[in-house]
Amino acid sequence: MGTVAAHGLRKSFGKVQALDGVTLDVPDGSFFVVLGPSGAGKTTTLRAIAGLEKLDAGSVHLDGRDATGDAPADRDLAMVFQSYALYPKLTAYENIASPLRARRCSSSEIAAAVERMSSLLHIERLLQRRPAQMSGGEMQRVALARALVRSPRAFLMDEPLTNLDLKLRVEMRTELTRIHRSLGATFIYVTNDQVEALSMADYVAVLKEGKVQQVGTPAEVYERPANQWVAGFVGSPQISLLACRAEGDQLVGEGWTLPRPRWAEAEDGRPLLLGLRAENLSIEQRGDASLPGELYGLEPLGDRTVVDVRVGTEILKVKARPTVTGVPGERLQVTVDLDRAHVFDAGTGLSLSDAGR
Ligand SMILES: Nc1ncnc2c1ncn2[C@@H]1O[C@H](COP(=O)(O)OP(=O)(O)O)[C@@H](O)[C@H]1O
Ligand SMILES: [Mg+2]
Repeated sequence: MGTVAAHGLRKSFGKVQALDGVTLDVPDGSFFVVLGPSGAGKTTTLRAIAGLEKLDAGSVHLDGRDATGDAPADRDLAMVFQSYALYPKLTAYENIASPLRARRCSSSEIAAAVERMSSLLHIERLLQRRPAQMSGGEMQRVALARALVRSPRAFLMDEPLTNLDLKLRVEMRTELTRIHRSLGATFIYVTNDQVEALSMADYVAVLKEGKVQQVGTPAEVYERPANQWVAGFVGSPQISLLACRAEGDQLVGEGWTLPRPRWAEAEDGRPLLLGLRAENLSIEQRGDASLPGELYGLEPLGDRTVVDVRVGTEILKVKARPTVTGVPGERLQVTVDLDRAHVFDAGTGLSLSDAGR
C-alpha cells in the first residue's frame, strides 16, 4: 500500500509562509505531480511528507495511519533528489546494490533486485562500469535505479530530471511513466515544468505561494483551470487573456464584441478576462465569433506556427499551419471557438466557466 494524505500543512521560515494550508490526497499507486514555479513550496511539501521538516500545523497520514510525529526513517518513504551523486569508486552494480546492502539483504536478493531494475532502466550493459566510464545520461539512469531499487511505501521525487539536457529529459519522461506502471508504486513527483506534469501525471496539484490552486487530472487542469493563474501556468503557448466586461448577452472588450457564452454568468459591467488558448483560435477559418486584429509577429515552430495578433493593446497567440504567411500590420480576423473559451473574474481570478458547463 502507498496512500499519502497530507492535510492542512503549514510551515513558515521567519517571515516566509512557505506552506499555507497545503492539502494533498495521494491515492495508492498513482503518479501524483506537484506542479508550481520556483518558491511555491514544492520541496517543503515533500520534506514535510518525508518528516524532514517540522510543521507549524497539519497532519500526514500514511496508509491511513497518523505519521505526523514519526521520524523520517519510520515512514518507509524514499526521497529522490534533483542531483544525486554516485559513489565514484563503485561499479554501477555496486552503486545500485548499496541501499540493499545497507539493509543487510542477502546476495541473491540483491542480485535479483539489481537485475530487475537494470532491465527496467536499460542499463544491463553498464553494470560493471564505474561512473567515470559513463555518460551523464547513463549516470542518471544508474542513480535512478539506485533510488528505485528499494520498495518503499512511496517515492518522493524532487525535480529529478532538471539537470538533464532536453532530449534526455523527454526520453526519461516516457521511461519514468513506464517504470511507474511496472512498479505499481506511489510516486509523488515535484516539478516546475508543466509539460512534465501534463505528460506523466495521473493527478496534478498546482501549487502557488504555499497554496494549492487546483487538483485534478492533467486534462481537467488544462481544460478547466480553476483560476486565471492556473490557466496561465499550464499550457504552451500561454493562454491569451483579454480584458472585457459583460453587457447583456455580449462580452465587450477594447474594440471587439463577442456573444457571451451562456455559462459565463456575470452582471453587467463586471470586469472579466476572456481566456483563449492558441488551438481554439484560428486566422484561417471563418466563423461567426471573431475578433478584429492585426498581425504582430510569426513564430514558426516546425509542425505549426504561432501567430501573434494584436487586438486593441493586447496580443493573442493563435495556432496556425506551418505554411502560414503574412506581414506585420496586416489586418486579420481571428475566429474564436467560444465553446472552449474561459472566462475569469478579473478581480478574484476565479473561473466563471465551470458552473454551467
Ligand atoms: N530552510 C529554509 N529557510 C528559509 N526559507 C526557506 C527554507 N526552505 C524554503 N524556504 C523558502 O520557502 C519558500 C518555499 O520554498 P521551496 O519549498 O523550496 O519551494 P520550491 O521547491 O517550490 O521552489 C521559498 O520562499 C523559500 O525561499
Ligand atoms: Mg524545490
